[in-house]
Amino acid sequence: MKIAVAGTGYVGLVTGVCLAEHGHQVTCVDVDEKKIEVMRRGKAPIYEEGLQELMDRNRERLTFTTAYQKAYRDAEVIFIGVGTPEKVDGSANLKYVYRVAGQIAESLEQDCVIVVKSTVPIGTNDKLESYIRERLVRPVQVDVASNPEFLSQGTAVRDTLHASRIVIGAETDRAREALEKVYETFEAPKLLTNRRSAEMIKYASNDFLALKISYINEVANFCEAIGADIEDVARGMGFDQRIGGRFLNAGIGYGGSCFPKDTKALHWLGNYYDTEFKTIKAAIEVNDNQKLKLIKKARQYYDSLEGVRVAVLGLTFKPGTNDLREAPSIRNVGILLDDGAEIFAYDPVAEAEFEMLYPGKLRYCRTPEEALEGAELCLIFTEWPEIKGLTPEVFCRKMRRPVILDGRNCYPVEAFDSYPVIYNSIGRRTVQNVEEKKGR
Ligand code: UGA
Repeated sequence: MKIAVAGTGYVGLVTGVCLAEHGHQVTCVDVDEKKIEVMRRGKAPIYEEGLQELMDRNRERLTFTTAYQKAYRDAEVIFIGVGTPEKVDGSANLKYVYRVAGQIAESLEQDCVIVVKSTVPIGTNDKLESYIRERLVRPVQVDVASNPEFLSQGTAVRDTLHASRIVIGAETDRAREALEKVYETFEAPKLLTNRRSAEMIKYASNDFLALKISYINEVANFCEAIGADIEDVARGMGFDQRIGGRFLNAGIGYGGSCFPKDTKALHWLGNYYDTEFKTIKAAIEVNDNQKLKLIKKARQYYDSLEGVRVAVLGLTFKPGTNDLREAPSIRNVGILLDDGAEIFAYDPVAEAEFEMLYPGKLRYCRTPEEALEGAELCLIFTEWPEIKGLTPEVFCRKMRRPVILDGRNCYPVEAFDSYPVIYNSIGRRTVQNVEEKKGR
C-alpha cells in the first residue's frame, strides 16, 4: 500500500520502517530538514536496535521528505506519529497533531484513511475527523482511525514487528478494512474496537504499568522499614500468573517520555469528566517521592553535602537510550549541586545532552571507575551493563569513602557483606560495614 507517516521520532520512524519491511511503500515526513537529510543518506537519526539494518534493507520502499503535500496527496493511509507533550497543567498538548491534520486536509487529492498512532486523549480521533473534513480542499472521503503503539524505547523495532497486540479503533468499514490490509502480514493478535476504546486502551495500559511500578516501590519502601527483601517479595508475587513477574523491579521511580506524561494526562482527563482517577493520582505522587529516595538516603550519611565528592553513575531514564526526559538523575543532580557537592558523572551515551541541562557544572568521566576515583558517595540512577559489571573491589579500591546508594538494585546485597562499605539499595537490607554518619 502507499503509506505516509507524519513524524519521524521513535514512534513515527519505527512504524514507517517496519511497514516498509512488510512490503508497503512508505514516505516519512518531518519538518526537521536536517533530520530528513540524515535519513535520505540512509542513516537512522536515533539509535534503536535493528533500525539501521531495516532501513538499509528497505531503502527502495522508503522515502524521506519535508514536502508533506507530495507525500499526503495520494497516500492510501496516513499515520500520525508526532509528539503529544505534557502541558503545564498535565494535559496533553495536541498542537503538533492538529498541525499535521491541517496539512493533510489541504493536501489530499484522493480518499484516505488517517491513522492516529500518537497517544491522544479520549475523543481526539472524533474531533480530528471533523477538523480535517471541515478543512478539506477537494471533495474526498476521509476517515480517522485509532491505532495506538505499544513500543518501548530500546526495543521499539522488536515491539513493532512482534507486537503484543494490534489495536484497531475504527468507526467505519472502510477504515477498519484499510488497517486490516496494512497489518495483513503482521503476526499478532488483532483487536477491533471503536475509536474511543482504542484511545483508552493505550492510556489504561501505560497507566497500569506505571501503577505497578509505584506499587512495588511502595512495597519496597515498606520492606526497608520492616526488614523484608523486595526482590524475594516481587519474585514470590510474580509466580502468580494473574500478577505476573514483569515490571516489578523496585527502583527510584519511572521516567521517560511516556509514563509521566500519560499518567498526568489521564488524571487530568478524569477530573475533566468529574471522575477522578485516585489510583493514578497516588501512582504519580509515589513516583515523585521515589525519585528523591537516593538524596534522602544520602542525608543519612552526610550532614551536609558541601564539598563532598559524588560519583553519579547513569543519567538516562533507563538503559539502552540517550533519552533524559523525566530521568530521576536530573532533579537529584540539581539538589546535589545546590548543596555544593562536586559531581563526577558517568553515562555511556547521555553526556552531551546532560551538559546542556547543567552547563559547566559537572565533570564527566569516560568510565564508571574514573567517576568513582576519590569519591565519598556514589549514586546509581541507571542500570547500564557497564555499571552493573562493577564489583565491590572496584568501589573499595577507587572510592575514598565507599558509601554506595544504588537506585536500581544493580548488585546482590550479599556481594558487599565482606567489604568495608555502606551499600544501601531499594527495598533491601543495608550493608553497613563502616561508621554511618560523617559530618562535614
Ligand atoms: C513505555 C511502555 O513500556 C510502552 O509499552 C509504551 O508503548 C511506551 O511507554 C509509550 O507509551 O510509548 P518506555 O517509556 O520506553 O515505554 O520505557 P519502559 O521500559 O516502560 O520504562 C519506563 C520507566 O519505568 C523507566 O524509567 C524504567 O526504569 C521504569 N521501570 C520499568 C521501573 O522502575 N521498574 C520496572 O519494573 C520497569
